[in-house]
Amino acid sequence: MSIRFSEESQTFSLRTKSSSYIMRRNEYGYLLHMYYGERLEDENLDYLIQLQDRGFSPNPNEVGNDRTFSLDVLPQEFSSDGICDYRICSIEVKNGDGSFAFSGKVADYRINSGKYELKGMPSLWTTEEDTVDTLEIRLEDTATNLNVILYYSVFEEKDIITRTVRVVNRGSDTVYLNRVMSVTMDFMDSDYDLIHFDGRHTMERELHRVPLSYGVQSIGSCRGASSHQHNPFMILCSKDTTEDFGHCYGFSLVYSGNFLCEVEKDQYDQTRLTMGLHTKYFSWQLKAGESFQAPEVVMAYSGRGLTHLSHLYHHIYRNNLCRSPYAKLPRQIVINSWEAAYFTFDEEKLLNIARAALDMGAELFVLDDGWFGKRDDDSSGLGDWEVNTDKLSHGLDGLADRICGMGLQFGLWVEPEMISENSNLYREHPDWCLQMPHRPVSRGRYQLVLDLSRKDVCDYIIGFMNHILDTVKVSYIKWDMNRNITDAWSSIEEADKQGEIYHRYMLGLYYVLDHIVLTHPDVLFVGCSGGGGRYDPGMLYYHPQIWCSDNTDAAARLKIQYGTSFAYPIQTMESHVSVCPNHQTGRTVPLHTRGVVAMDGIFGYELDATKLTADEKAECREQTIRYKKYYPLIAQGDYYRLTNPYEDLYLTAWEHVSPDRKYALLCVVLTDKEANAPQKYVKLKGLDPNKFYKIEGMDRSFSGQLLMSAGLPVPFSLGQYEAVQYYLETEE
Ligand code: DGJ
Repeated sequence: MSIRFSEESQTFSLRTKSSSYIMRRNEYGYLLHMYYGERLEDENLDYLIQLQDRGFSPNPNEVGNDRTFSLDVLPQEFSSDGICDYRICSIEVKNGDGSFAFSGKVADYRINSGKYELKGMPSLWTTEEDTVDTLEIRLEDTATNLNVILYYSVFEEKDIITRTVRVVNRGSDTVYLNRVMSVTMDFMDSDYDLIHFDGRHTMERELHRVPLSYGVQSIGSCRGASSHQHNPFMILCSKDTTEDFGHCYGFSLVYSGNFLCEVEKDQYDQTRLTMGLHTKYFSWQLKAGESFQAPEVVMAYSGRGLTHLSHLYHHIYRNNLCRSPYAKLPRQIVINSWEAAYFTFDEEKLLNIARAALDMGAELFVLDDGWFGKRDDDSSGLGDWEVNTDKLSHGLDGLADRICGMGLQFGLWVEPEMISENSNLYREHPDWCLQMPHRPVSRGRYQLVLDLSRKDVCDYIIGFMNHILDTVKVSYIKWDMNRNITDAWSSIEEADKQGEIYHRYMLGLYYVLDHIVLTHPDVLFVGCSGGGGRYDPGMLYYHPQIWCSDNTDAAARLKIQYGTSFAYPIQTMESHVSVCPNHQTGRTVPLHTRGVVAMDGIFGYELDATKLTADEKAECREQTIRYKKYYPLIAQGDYYRLTNPYEDLYLTAWEHVSPDRKYALLCVVLTDKEANAPQKYVKLKGLDPNKFYKIEGMDRSFSGQLLMSAGLPVPFSLGQYEAVQYYLETEE
């Protein structure tokens, strides 16, 4: 068993292959957090708690006159609120009597084999190869009978611990939850850096590394989506941690809506990290007998640096997150119509693009926005999911038949959560969108957001989506979401339940996806929110791949894909070759480089293939052949970031290595060409030092040790934004 409880020391100990997680029930029943880090054999950690009389840190009543016991200082597993602890807290409750307080003490616990399940929300699941045990600890506030159950599932071999909490109202009063954190993690020190991934539309998940400072540092989203601006993933690491060295902790929230992650460095140089639903606009009514379930957090610890931490996440997210069979299947090479045609097309134009792309090696044609209702630009039509026969004279099924007849598969874009005011759906159901009484509604990209907290609206979406899926030969759906939520008020809820709308929207969305995605396992669903505005594990539960960014500029993508790779597997990042000058940045990058960068993900094209020259088409054809060859490495290999694009300005390099270390793919892009530049070398990683590797196109082989220690010279002749790819294979 990976979970044990010692009666003698009252210690809960959770062990993975390389980490230990230790908690202790103290003499008053409080659950103290003792340790998370390198796996320990000696788990007697009592000596770490050094009680002192701390001025202005109050003492709970039951300790009598012991001025050395204060919850304001002690490391806790799920902190109290309103009772002696002034730090950021795990929960905020407004009780029936109007008091703001919660103080939980261990009432009982259970250890089971297998993993807990979350109803209505995505979470990790187990495969036959996993040994997973679960610990449930029930905390009880005896003053109110409010219970909090802490859940921990330990994936021993995969070095992962998941956590969540459920709040159960066993009292007789209605209470309001104003904050429920899925994870609280106390550290007795604070010499850490915080790494988080921030950005904006078309420039998502840029890495920021900052030292912890006194007070609270916070990231989060109140946009009704995990957002382009912040990602629900955070790393805490020692100051000397690099890709290959040092301690680091990852926290990843399996949720796609409003989230909050806070880190506080306190007055005694201790750290508390919390992660969960955002508290802004959140107030959940909990009547007697009801319970509230928080989303799951996936935690990993690496004592070997950031690359290993990423490998732990890649491994678990590749194998235990996505429900679609496509998670394990090779993906088709896509040609997408968006940057090729935007809203202006007819059947003939699309068929011509598809035919030209087929010639290049594309396997699946995706019809993007503009095929339905009155949709000649983005100001109208959302909600009217009937094909526009002015554009597509043979209908959607007619187009799909013709595309499939060519030997391509057919894919379709939808944006089911949205509604345009200029649509029949809005004229019929003006109350179906989120809007506040007595206030004119706010628009984003001219559109409004459907109220997915309503079951009738969710069922309507399920109905029209299933109709499309059942009547058209569709193998791929791109599920888009092009604005953030405002006006979060639902016409069917009472005033004191309006603080639930953001979370109820997400529960509605997960319900919809459960009834569409999980009932169509033969269709590949691709996530998208203006590119990467909802790139999170909650969405990856349904979508094996997500359109990584609306920015298709290969040079910009180097940073976007670098940041994304810290938590998310490479085979989840959809990445396309587009034309130059690039539509988002105006930059021109060689076609070869665009291919190399797009191959760092799920490869495809986003251009009018009929406009390519014969040479360009030949180059594309060659790219698709290479991608097919490299695909197993890209999809299943270990990923190594060889440079940091924020520090190494001259070049960006990365590498994929097969799990058996027999094959590797090294990619290098020159990002800042200098005149008479120094000769640069790239040192590879993850190879077998004792094996010899042949490199395609070179007439000698190199030992793995040599390639990792001395490296390979970067061709001096490479020009600005030019790239090379080296394919390595061990000699028999
Ligand atoms: C945003 C997406 O990210 C684009 O790829 C495209 O599908 C547009 N929406 C269509 O409106």
